[in-house]
Parts: sequence; structure tokens; C-alpha cells
Amino acid sequence: MKILVIHGPNLNMLGRRQPTIYGNKTLGEIDSLLREKARELDVEVSIFQSNSEGALIDFLQRESADAQGILINPGALSHYGLSLRDALADTPLPTVEVHLSHIYAREKWRQRSVIAPIARGGISGLGWRGYIAALEILVGLISEGAQGE
Ligand code: DQA
Repeated sequence: MKILVIHGPNLNMLGRRQPTIYGNKTLGEIDSLLREKARELDVEVSIFQSNSEGALIDFLQRESADAQGILINPGALSHYGLSLRDALADTPLPTVEVHLSHIYAREKWRQRSVIAPIARGGISGLGWRGYIAALEILVGLISEGAQGE
């Protein structure tokens, strides 16, 4: 089983970026923890980060035919990234949306995700642990035969 892990804009700055909101772990540290969890679950992860919506879409279009699920933190694209949403909707894969911060308790414009309606579900506000939990849940759902929305 292969899971695409996608990190959107500015997440490459984790560790230095507003640590009181997003935590102290770097993206590299989170990716290592995800790879460790993937080994434990006996699944493959293909991890990609970009600050550009087009590059995220290119990755999805290139990789999704060969994958079974998507774990994504779209960053600010969560709130307005309609091309990314269309690309996700165009794959038949179940998608789980992760946010480090609790977007529903932040500014009004962050409280709406345009990705949420095409996601199977999401985790928000639980920091780096949200990624690990989401990977485990997504793999469990796919094992039970979950499809995309
Ligand atoms: C984020 C929340 C977004 O609103 C923000 O733009 C991010 C990170 C999160 O993980 O909490 O870049 O997706």
C-alpha cells in the first residue's frame, strides 16, 4: 500500500515558523516520524512539499495512479486552493486532511476549508501527532476498503 503525504506552502519552515502555533518540530522530523510509523504499519509513503499549488497538483497527477490514499496538510491552500481541491477530487483516493493548529479556533478566514468537503475526514489542532494518527487511521480505512469521496 502506498500513501501520498503532501505538505503545502510554508510548511517547509516548521520548527522556526510561529512555534507557539505550529510546534517545535521541523518538517524533516515530522517526515521521519511518518516514515517510522509507515514501517510499523508496513506501508510505503511518498512525501512531497511545495510552496506552489501547481507543483502540488503536478505531484498528485503524477503519483495518484500508483497510490491508495492521500494524507495532506494543504497549509493556507486549505482556505482557497480550488485547483488543488479539484485535483484531489479527480483522484479516486480517500483523503485525510491534517492541520497542526486548531483552525476552527483561529481567525474566521481559517475556519473554512475548501478541501474538507472532498476529504474523508480530518484532524486539526493536535500538532505533529495529528499526522501520525491520521496515517494510522487512513491505512485502517483503506484496509477496510475505503474509496475516495
Ligand atoms: C495549517 C493552518 C493554515 O491555516 C495555515 O495557513 C498553515 C498551516 C496548520 O497546519 O495548522 O500553513 O494548515
